[in-house]
Amino acid sequence: MSSTSTQAWRGIAAEEVEEVPSDWTGLLRRRTRRLIGSVARPHKRAIVLITIAIVVSNLAATAIPYLVGLGIDRGIAGARHHDYVPIAVITGLIAICALLQALLYRVFVSGSGRVGQEIILQLRERVFAHFQRLSLAFHEHYTTGRMIARLTSDFESINDMFNLGLDTLVNSVLSVVGVGTILLVLDLPLGLVCLSGFVPLYFLSRWYQRESTKAYRVTRNAMAQVIVQFTESLRGIRAVHAFRRAPRNDEIFGELSEGYRAAMSRSFQLLGIYWPGIVLVGNITTAAVLLYGGWRVIGGEMEVGVLTSFVLYLRRFFEPLAEVSQFYDSFQAAAAGFEKLAGVLDEDPGVPMPAHGAPLPAGGLKGAVTFSNVRFAYREGANVLAGFDLDIPAGQTVALVGETGAGKSTVARLLARFYDPTEGKVTIDGIPLEALDQHSLRRAVAMVTQESFIFSGTIADNIAFGSPDASEEQIISAARAVGVDSFVHTLGDGYESDVGKSGSRLSAGQRQLVALARAFLADPAVLILDEASSSLDAPMERLVQSALRTVLADRTAVIIAHRLSTVEIADRVLVLDSGHIVEDGPPGRLLAEGRGHYASLHAAWRDSLV
Ligand SMILES: Nc1ncnc2c1ncn2[C@@H]1O[C@H](COP(=O)(O)OP(=O)(O)OP(=O)(O)O)[C@@H](O)[C@H]1O
Ligand SMILES: [Mg+2]
Repeated sequence: MSSTSTQAWRGIAAEEVEEVPSDWTGLLRRRTRRLIGSVARPHKRAIVLITIAIVVSNLAATAIPYLVGLGIDRGIAGARHHDYVPIAVITGLIAICALLQALLYRVFVSGSGRVGQEIILQLRERVFAHFQRLSLAFHEHYTTGRMIARLTSDFESINDMFNLGLDTLVNSVLSVVGVGTILLVLDLPLGLVCLSGFVPLYFLSRWYQRESTKAYRVTRNAMAQVIVQFTESLRGIRAVHAFRRAPRNDEIFGELSEGYRAAMSRSFQLLGIYWPGIVLVGNITTAAVLLYGGWRVIGGEMEVGVLTSFVLYLRRFFEPLAEVSQFYDSFQAAAAGFEKLAGVLDEDPGVPMPAHGAPLPAGGLKGAVTFSNVRFAYREGANVLAGFDLDIPAGQTVALVGETGAGKSTVARLLARFYDPTEGKVTIDGIPLEALDQHSLRRAVAMVTQESFIFSGTIADNIAFGSPDASEEQIISAARAVGVDSFVHTLGDGYESDVGKSGSRLSAGQRQLVALARAFLADPAVLILDEASSSLDAPMERLVQSALRTVLADRTAVIIAHRLSTVEIADRVLVLDSGHIVEDGPPGRLLAEGRGHYASLHAAWRDSLV
């Protein structure tokens, strides 16, 4: 019943479902190792200290069963003959070892926790900063679901590794190696009996590793699909309500969640075989040691204390192995998390900004714009602009008109440096845009678009978004200039009113006015308005227009609008058709000349009004 639409939906989500490498070498690729190295480097000293602490703590812990055996064989024997020195020395040593172990283990736990959290903090900041700098082209294909996964579940798995996994792994490896050595030294034949338990364990572990990696991939893909369906449905909640899509979405979500449940339950089943398997091997080995050891004790080849140490050691031998297996998944997840983050950090910001840009002219930018021989394509081979030339003298107000898809927004985005041209140059006052640093570029251009984004916070916060240092008076005067003051008093708290998530408490027109105020306050040399007043009603638009006349008087401006009333304030109109300028001149003249593109656009627009 639902398979076809689920299939179609899966098609959309296909890029969301990420490749999970199938083995360790795949997980720990070079860039991953480089990333881990670079985040660990600042903590080198702490890491060395923590390592020493855990090694010594383990040595102390490992010595205890040996000392117990010694106490039984030598201490008690001595005490029987009223020689209390050995037992006193041995119990003293046991106490010291116990204290040392506890103390150093504390150093390890708190130290690795602290370093782990610092590394995560650093990495989180780096990933966020990098995401912000990545080009719009990157953000167009990297979906929100994946971004959220980067900043949440990847970090969670790394966090889990630092909290639990690392501790267990280091402890277990050290105990197994240490105990294994001691067993062989204490009594070689009995030691070999213990180690023979490793043979079935080896095969069991190989099997588990292979199967759990497979299961992990399935789980991760299933989880990715659940996240995508969740975020996409809820981000599009208005469309979901408008088309009464909730029941169908429930079905799809149910199917995907069921897939995730099935994948998870497979993981648990694997663990359900592996863990008891290890315990079984451990217990059988203990029985064998007791049998063979007892026989040797009876034969006088071995002392009871040594056998006691053996049995005590065996617990410290197989238990950690079982624990390591449990954390194999957590390592796998953390390694995959690191790999994904390394992948993001490896992405080139498409529009790199120099740290030290070209010096600005004394007296600031004037705002003369040129496009010379610009070629641009969003996708290879599909030029939107080819050989595009344009000169805008400083201070001119230019209206860019043309049919849908003509390339108007593309020209605007190149001017705002959302993208770099494939060929050619865009300059302001003769300075190529890519020579300007972050700060200068902010002074140079600002763009207001149709989907003016409003952040959660107050009206004042939103107006000051591009100029965090603005004073209250400046904010209010920018608001007045574009007419925000006409509605701000209806909001309860005036400029301090909360606009809700994404400005949801404002109407579409009110959001545009706030966005316009934001741009005016930023006071750029070149202001670009792309359908920036499309949501305003006619009276409001006229009001904004009269404000624009004064605000744009000494500023270069590029205005894109389908409503040609907006264009009347322009000094010059450019008609764009398939990426080429087909008409260029003052609006009055283009109209007077009659039969051109602008005249027919204008006539069509006039007709649409009546
Ligand atoms: N992000 C993008 N990725 C790929 N192609 C795009 C992208 N944005 C625009 N295009 C394509 O580039 C061409 C020009 O689009 P542009 O947005 O510049 O048109 P426009 O003149 O602003 O149209 P409208 O009046 O509808 O806003 C169109 O063919 C469009 O399909
Ligand atoms: Mg457009």
